[in-house]
Amino acid sequence: MEIQLWRSMLCPYETAVRELIVKFEQIREEHKNNDLYSPIEQVTGRVKTVSSILEKMQRKQIPLSNMEELVEDIAGIRLICQFEEDIEVVSAMIKKRSDMVLKLEKDYLTHIKQSGYRSYHMIVYYTVETIDGPKRLQVEIQIRTMAMNFWATIEHSLQYKYRGDIPEHVADRLCNAADAIISLDREMSSVRNEIMDAQISSLFQSNLVRDILNNIECMYRQTSKREIQKIQMEFLRIYNTKDIRQLEHFHHQLDILAEGYQAQSL
Ligand code: GTP
Ligand code: MG
Repeated sequence: MEIQLWRSMLCPYETAVRELIVKFEQIREEHKNNDLYSPIEQVTGRVKTVSSILEKMQRKQIPLSNMEELVEDIAGIRLICQFEEDIEVVSAMIKKRSDMVLKLEKDYLTHIKQSGYRSYHMIVYYTVETIDGPKRLQVEIQIRTMAMNFWATIEHSLQYKYRGDIPEHVADRLCNAADAIISLDREMSSVRNEIMDAQISSLFQSNLVRDILNNIECMYRQTSKREIQKIQMEFLRIYNTKDIRQLEHFHHQLDILAEGYQAQSL
C-alpha cells in the first residue's frame, strides 16, 4: 500500500479516536457537574502507527485485504478508573450506548495473563461519517485501574527494551509487582466508600461555589454596586468559615434574591 493510501485509510480511525475521547470525557463531565462520582478518571486514545500495524500483521499472518477486520486495535481508547469496581460500571455503560456495538470482550481481570497483565478489553463497532459516507470501524477499549495502568506501562517499556524477551529475573520481579498491584487495588477498594464520600463533598463544594459566583455575576447587572459588594463580602465571610451547610444556605438565599431581581427586571 502506498503511503497516501495508509493516510486515508487511517483518517477515519483518527476521527473515531477524537470523537470517542470527547464522548468519554463528556461522561466524566456530566458526573462532575451533577455532584456525582465519576467511574472514569482519565481518558486517552491513540491510532496505531503504521509500523506497529505492519508488525502485528506479520506476527499474526494477516493479509493486507483482511487488515481492517483482523487488526482490531487500529483505534484504541483507554479508560482509567480509580477502583476495580468502576470497571464493571464503565463496561455496562458502554454496552447500553447506541453509538457503540459490542463485538467481543476480553476479561483479563478474572483471567490474568501469564505476564501478570490485568485489564478489561472491549472491541466495539463505531461508525464515523466521512466524505464518502458512513464508515463502520472497530475500536479497542481498554478499561483498567490507575494501579493496573502503572504496571502495564512499566511492563510495556521493559518488553520494548528487551524486544519481547524479558530475562527471567526481571519477569519474576514483574510478577511480584503484579501481585502487589492486586493487593493495592484490593486495599483501595476496601476504603472506596470513604474515598468516594470525600471526593463527592469536595466536588459538591466546588460546584456550590461555582453556582454562587454565577448568581453573583448575574445579579451584578441587576443591582447596585454597593449591594453586590455587600453580597461578595458576606460570601467571603461564609466561605472562610469552611462550613458547607452555611454555604448551602447562603446559596439558597442568593437564589431567592436573584429570582426577586429577575422578577423586578421583567
Ligand atoms: P496485540 O497483538 O498485542 O494487540 O494482542 P492481541 O490482539 O492478541 O490482543 P490482546 O488482548 O492479547 O492484547 C491487546 C492489547 O492489550 C495489547 O495491544 C496491549 O496494549 C495490551 N496487552 C495485552 N497483554 C499485555 C501484557 O502482557 N502487557 C502489557 N503491558 N500490555 C498487554
Ligand atoms: Mg494491541
